[in-house]
Amino acid sequence: MSITRKKSLSTLLAQAGDSEKGLKRTLGAGSLVALGIGAIIGAGLFVRTALAAGQHAGPAVTVSFIIAAIGCAFAGLCYAEFASIIPIAGSAYTYAYATMGEIVAWIIGWALILEYALGAATVSISWSEYLNKLLGGSIPYEWSHSPFESLKDDVTGVMHHGIMNAPALLILLILSLLLIKGTKESASVNAVIVTIKVAIVLVFIAIGWGYINPANHTPYLIPADAKPALQPDGSLYSYADFFKHGWGGVLTGAGIVFFAFIGFDAVSTAAQEAKNPKKDMPLGILGSLVVCTILYILFSYVLTGVAPYTDFIKAGKEASVAYAIETYMHGYHWLATLVTIAILAGFSSVILVMLMGQSRVFYTMSTDGLLPKIFSDLHPKFRTPYKSNLVLFVFVGLFAGFVPGTVAGDLTSIGTLFAFVLVCLGVWILRRKDPALHRPFKTPLVPLVPILGMVVCTAMIVSLPNETLISALVWMLIGLMVYFGYSKNNSKLKA
Ligand code: ALA
Repeated sequence: MSITRKKSLSTLLAQAGDSEKGLKRTLGAGSLVALGIGAIIGAGLFVRTALAAGQHAGPAVTVSFIIAAIGCAFAGLCYAEFASIIPIAGSAYTYAYATMGEIVAWIIGWALILEYALGAATVSISWSEYLNKLLGGSIPYEWSHSPFESLKDDVTGVMHHGIMNAPALLILLILSLLLIKGTKESASVNAVIVTIKVAIVLVFIAIGWGYINPANHTPYLIPADAKPALQPDGSLYSYADFFKHGWGGVLTGAGIVFFAFIGFDAVSTAAQEAKNPKKDMPLGILGSLVVCTILYILFSYVLTGVAPYTDFIKAGKEASVAYAIETYMHGYHWLATLVTIAILAGFSSVILVMLMGQSRVFYTMSTDGLLPKIFSDLHPKFRTPYKSNLVLFVFVGLFAGFVPGTVAGDLTSIGTLFAFVLVCLGVWILRRKDPALHRPFKTPLVPLVPILGMVVCTAMIVSLPNETLISALVWMLIGLMVYFGYSKNNSKLKA
């Protein structure tokens, strides 16, 4: 049947061979790990840790990180196998096209839009929060929040309603223009940003450790009868729901902080620039995951030890790390400013990689005929998919400017988790269909590892808010309409 037609592995590998002419193989395992960390550490750690702790998991957000890391490790092992067999751009979408057929590839490509495009939107919203913090809160609430958010001024009692998140749009515009000009993050520039990001995380852990108040870690799980907390708009936040306290809350927390791990799959998009992709791809993917997991566990332990989790509902809801330092670590005001600047730089690199990743996936889908040619048209001078970058700016901007960060972030997580489930399934299918294929890296214990990956990722999907699940479902239905209305008939594989 035409919707299950597959791109043959030999065609894909021949394409990889072709493009080798244009791309230099300069990245070793170390640079690949750095690339991964550059794309991974961002808003997930510096914003969503506090969100998950405040609203769902309390101090046990550390356990949420461990659960999310386990899901990512299983999926990462599966990604590593694919990346070593098919070391070319396009990531999960390309793997699926070779193993599960066109419709599944399309569905993954469509889900990846949630990951990359909405991921960029989410991080740009966080960028806006920290910029406001750096400027001493001088950006009016109305122009730094979406129309769905409001804040009650404690002193005057006046209600502020968001209109548009202008700084988020601004950073997106700047980075989109940079991408169009072809300013490519070189491995060395990336290494500098990564060094700054990791250094700031380590400094916060080291200094913050001395400010941990054991009382903030007790009780470790949010109790079922926890007192409701006051929210920015003056209403009360109740912990009564199953997913807002205890182990249910820890699981939802995992779904929220899962965002912090997104990006390790971005390593797979650099496969064509790796010196020795068959060996270094798995090392890059799994290495960056291990480093980040260790940092995240320590970081979340310190953050929830320094500030009580209930602070993150209102006063510390935005720019939470800077807030915790300023409020509880006296004498370290300079650190709060330094952290804010480092975070702004770090967020910019995450947004850039996400926007770039999205345009690469669109580019591949367009060259396969599944999306219109506009997405693979290159600029005559810069040789970048500039039209795609502009369309993306408008699309991502609509979310960044007019949707709250939590909503965009949850949708990002769901899209990525869904792609992970399908990648796990793909590894299993390919093992059965083509057991003799040469696999430089083999996922251990197949089918156990892929099955566990699917189970943990599905559990995190299910724990996300119902509205997010419904929005994602609507998004996927729109995707199917586009596929049957356009892509199926324009596919290059059409006989
Ligand atoms: N993992 C990336 C972040 O946390 C998307 O910003």
